[in-house]
Amino acid sequence: MANLVVIGTQWGDEGKGKIVDILAHDADVVVRFQGGSNAGHTVVNDRGTFVFHLIPSGILYRSKVNMIGNGVVVDPGSLIEEMDQLQAKGVQIGRNFFISHRAHLILPYHKAIEKAAEQSKGSRRIGTTGRGIGPSYADKMARIGIRAGDLLNPPLFRRKLEENLAEINLFLDRLYRAEGFQVEKVFQQYMGYADRLKDYIADTSIMLNKAIDRGRKVLFEGAQGTHLDVDFGTYPYVTSSSAAAGGACTGTGVGPTKIDVVMGVTKAYTTRVGSGPVPTELNDAVGGGLQERGKEFGATTGRARRCGWFDGILVRYATKINGLSSLAVTKLDVLDGCKELMLCTGYRHNGILHKDMPADIQVLSDCEPVYQKLPGWTTPTTGITTYKKLPVEAKRYLDRVEELAECRIDMVSTGSKRSHTIILRNPLAAPRRRPAAGRARR
Ligand code: GDP
Ligand code: IMO
Ligand code: MG
Repeated sequence: MANLVVIGTQWGDEGKGKIVDILAHDADVVVRFQGGSNAGHTVVNDRGTFVFHLIPSGILYRSKVNMIGNGVVVDPGSLIEEMDQLQAKGVQIGRNFFISHRAHLILPYHKAIEKAAEQSKGSRRIGTTGRGIGPSYADKMARIGIRAGDLLNPPLFRRKLEENLAEINLFLDRLYRAEGFQVEKVFQQYMGYADRLKDYIADTSIMLNKAIDRGRKVLFEGAQGTHLDVDFGTYPYVTSSSAAAGGACTGTGVGPTKIDVVMGVTKAYTTRVGSGPVPTELNDAVGGGLQERGKEFGATTGRARRCGWFDGILVRYATKINGLSSLAVTKLDVLDGCKELMLCTGYRHNGILHKDMPADIQVLSDCEPVYQKLPGWTTPTTGITTYKKLPVEAKRYLDRVEELAECRIDMVSTGSKRSHTIILRNPLAAPRRRPAAGRARR
């Protein structure tokens, strides 16, 4: 098995960082393919706790090559800050790290536009991370974006900046009464970034394809989650990139025939940060308990994550959209001590039972979740590393998750540490088999 995509199946923060860190051991290259510093991927190992925003979670292994693909939007200031913080902790970043020449940059005006737009929306705001993600992708699509490669060509960079600011300053002033930006100031700031980053900028798509041709294993690290995908998420309460598995191809320049496995990461319950519907949200002590035990506060913005029961409709949709061949269930330990557990098996709206994700966000906002109740478990699961040692109720719960998701579970995470993991099958190490019924496997 060679090339694998890791994707979030919910609204982000599923524990992708932890799973990528584990899988990266058996990979040669780790590449981020979308999003930007809106992501916050946490890895906890013997060396401490690391939160990655732009740099792939594989950087902790000295021998792996790490890349930021063309589908990512790069804020050079926050990238340099992240590099500094990692290097201060002894992490090596040198010829093991590359940034796509084609990746678009985030400029200060992107953050200013986002801030003004969010403020003007009032209660309809998306609740973005404020990192300039949406406006940077908008410029990419409008064909006025400035790319990482432009940092290597100062006259071109200046010309693009001048053209953009001539319009954007007017836009900021007339529409939002917000302050504009001086070309010279931004230019000097970004030429400083260019000095620091120039050696890392490369044509990563060619490098990746060469690596694949030589039989190297590539791990594509997704950010955000399927339901934040700009096409398949809960639009407009989404991010501005292709967070679903398809983004791995367009965001790196690797063709779909080269991808062997797509692993989805799902929490054993549901969380979301920012605005938008969450049918299984719990605005009570049970939800508060999940938030407290799961330490559900954003790794990027520190905002409290909204918590709710596991939603089978949400995750099954992710199985279909991404063509998942494998599932990793995280944070099972957070459910320890719950007397009973609910799993959402459908949405009821105006007397109609929906078994599939409705495209109409109004249906999702107004629906009533239909639940199946299962008994909880009282013995702790934290740190359990073998499936057999799980309480019988936890096994039953996982079986139901697997059935609802229509995807086999290959990993179960029982704590934040690298070692707190049950690996039923490592898709990067094992030969590929057709998905089989879960129970028989164990
Ligand atoms: P990502 O954005 O998908 O990489 O996820 P985040 O890092 O934003 O959020 C996941 C959080 O849960 C992090 O703080 C992880 O350290 C933590 N975590 C991951 N897996 C587990 C687990 O199985 N149990 C517990 N208790 N925490 C976990
Ligand atoms: P990781 O990679 C959770 C959410 C924001 C907001 C919406 C749009 O750690 O899973 P944006 O700044 O992207 O324009 O915000 O998307 N969001 C995330 N939520 N985890 C993330 O990343 C997120 N990245 C963006 O809260 O609702
Ligand atoms: Mg996160």
